[in-house]
Amino acid sequence: AQDIIARAVEVLKENDHGDYTIPTKGLYPFQWNWDSCLTALGLAHYDEARAWTEIETLFAHQWPDGMVPHIVFHVWNDGYFPGPEVWRTGRPTATSGITQPAVAGFAVRRLFDRARDRKLAVERACRLLPKIDAWHRWFYENRDPKGEGLVAIIHPWESGRDNSIDWDQAFERVPTEGVEPYIRRDILHADPAHRPTQAQYDRYLWLVQHFRGLGWDNALLHDASPFQIVDPGFNAILIRAAADLADLAEALGDTGIAKANRARAEKGIAAMERLWSEAHGQYLCLDRLTGKLVDSASVGGVLPAFAAIPQARAAAIAATIERLAGKARHIVPSHDPNDPRFDARRYWRGPVWLVVNYMIADGLLAAGHAEVARRITGSSLDLITESGFAEYYDPLTGEPLGGGRFTWTAAMVIEFLR
Ligand code: DGY
Repeated sequence: AQDIIARAVEVLKENDHGDYTIPTKGLYPFQWNWDSCLTALGLAHYDEARAWTEIETLFAHQWPDGMVPHIVFHVWNDGYFPGPEVWRTGRPTATSGITQPAVAGFAVRRLFDRARDRKLAVERACRLLPKIDAWHRWFYENRDPKGEGLVAIIHPWESGRDNSIDWDQAFERVPTEGVEPYIRRDILHADPAHRPTQAQYDRYLWLVQHFRGLGWDNALLHDASPFQIVDPGFNAILIRAAADLADLAEALGDTGIAKANRARAEKGIAAMERLWSEAHGQYLCLDRLTGKLVDSASVGGVLPAFAAIPQARAAAIAATIERLAGKARHIVPSHDPNDPRFDARRYWRGPVWLVVNYMIADGLLAAGHAEVARRITGSSLDLITESGFAEYYDPLTGEPLGGGRFTWTAAMVIEFLR
């Protein structure tokens, strides 16, 4: 175990740019939002101050309205597309114009709870607390216009599960006319068979241009988007982060922030019931424009185990994961292998991701499903032992896929071995 941790630390150090970490060289040369927050947990293993800085750097680029962007383009690099010249968000340091799963509240609470340097932890957590709270408020103000307790994503990149089967149907509504000519860079760094398709990229870009045309005004974007999806995994992360932030605020004596986040988490948990599918034994996405659930059994609907969902739901999800273990050698696949649309190698249409495993295992352990949580952790460690610190893995063969020497994979391995 010590040897694996040492190798994981090497990956983190290789990708460390001083006050932020890039996900991997070549493919992702900037700071990504949820990558950074989860990476901080690995950094804390050997340098707590550096771990706090990782998240502080991200929040130094929070927008005035509260949004925390999904990419911060700290230093110019032409190896990635779409870069700042496409986003044109007009920020002092260039950023993208959309957000990502709100894992920061969870990460900061975990850093705080485990901190060896208590004084530093109190100081840093106090500074981050109102910023994370502002981000949570932003979500419910801008992405839940009817006050339902659940937020929508308006671009697949926001979910982090870029090319999930969950988006296929809604994506048919996204046009491609008028997309400016572009050259993808991702397929220079990774096998095109592991990446989203050209047709998906056209639609990703159409949405970016559409939002840019509206001046990145978050008061307008939700209603103006032909893509509005309530993703159970995305909401569960936000709900868990809100509950964790409430606990943290209580510990730090901020009752206002504690109360607001407790209320968000409770309302969210109740609202999640609308997304439950008895037939699939998991949650499903809701297409806000059609008002219908999306019939797609992706890991996005298993991920809510991360939040304090009702006991019966957690038990059903644990059983679903056991069924998935009968269909794939490595769990948890990002899509049900029995679905004809499953693709074992293509990004979020089948492969296993260690960050998702980490969050699911964490929630299941807390809900009393220690055995299933152990299986997930065991599967994750088998994968890195066999295939190294890859971006993601084939659930059937264990083959490494996408980018290599991947930061958040390494951070999760450190977490699994703690
Ligand atoms: C990419 O470029 O593949 C990223 O996932 C978008 O954030």
